[in-house]
Amino acid sequence: MSWKTFPKLELHLHIEGAAPPKFIRGLAQEKSINLDRVFDERGAYAYRDFPEFLKVYEAATQVLKTPRDYQRLTRAVLENCAENGVIYAETFISPDFCGGRDLGAWREYLHAIQEIAAEVEAELGIILRGIVTCIRHFGPEKAKETAICAAETAGDWIVGFGMGGDETILRQGDYAWAFDCAREAGLRLTTHAGEWGGPDAIRQAIDDLRVDRIGHGVRAIEDPRLVDILAEREIVLEICPGSNVALGLYRNFAAHPIARLRDAGVKVTVSTDDPPFFHTTMGREYEELERAFGWGAEDFAALNDTALGAAFCDPATRESLK
Ligand code: ADE
Ligand code: ZN
Repeated sequence: MSWKTFPKLELHLHIEGAAPPKFIRGLAQEKSINLDRVFDERGAYAYRDFPEFLKVYEAATQVLKTPRDYQRLTRAVLENCAENGVIYAETFISPDFCGGRDLGAWREYLHAIQEIAAEVEAELGIILRGIVTCIRHFGPEKAKETAICAAETAGDWIVGFGMGGDETILRQGDYAWAFDCAREAGLRLTTHAGEWGGPDAIRQAIDDLRVDRIGHGVRAIEDPRLVDILAEREIVLEICPGSNVALGLYRNFAAHPIARLRDAGVKVTVSTDDPPFFHTTMGREYEELERAFGWGAEDFAALNDTALGAAFCDPATRESLK
């Protein structure tokens, strides 16, 4: 069955990672930037594994050079989300890509993104909020600068701070200063953990960064005691099954641990991560979950209830989504 129009909340979506290939190719053409190694012969993003994925992601991002480019990107992303029934999304945005962590430039990018998000909200009803994201393989010093940008712009629209990038580099705790800075500014916290790192990475995220949610977190399944901790403490996982399958973490949806985690009492939500990179949409995620686990409207409503409870937006916005 098609779940395209079923109302959905999405908590884990990288804005550059949601850029349609056509959009990136168009911008590259306008700016005469050569992106040959980014696409395959059919025009899809080309990568073989996670390290290559990160390189292609960053190469594609090179065409996004101005606040206006991010405005156009934000519109394209929100239109795709709305077409898939998404009524509320939180997106990861990096000052690393938006102004090189310069606070003045970051404010300009943010203003442009918020302006178009408000315009699209008025047109399509979809609500967007931002999570400022540091990039782990850029190192802890840059993460500190990113956290300062986050802290300075924390409010109704920038509602969280997070970390993506290569999870195999350093430890979560090496970024504690950045997370402490963001927490003190009132931001809610999430970090990618337990995607490429094992259960220990998730424990570090909980103990050393004191995050509210975990990006992915699926490898908790390898440690039953940790599964119990996640369930007991009601730490919400932002699970992206299609991303995990496309990057080779699991063979297919049926082998994915989302159903086992849910059945063990862990609070799970579903997102797309970087949808065109993984040939997915929110509609497709739901279809695959139905096919693999027989999930239906009740299961999907429960996922969205969990997402609503875990959303970083203010209570009035949350109330408007009920
Ligand atoms: N950045 C964009 N997508 C990511 C992923 N799946 N893991 C880590 N960093 C990312
Ligand atoms: Zn991610």
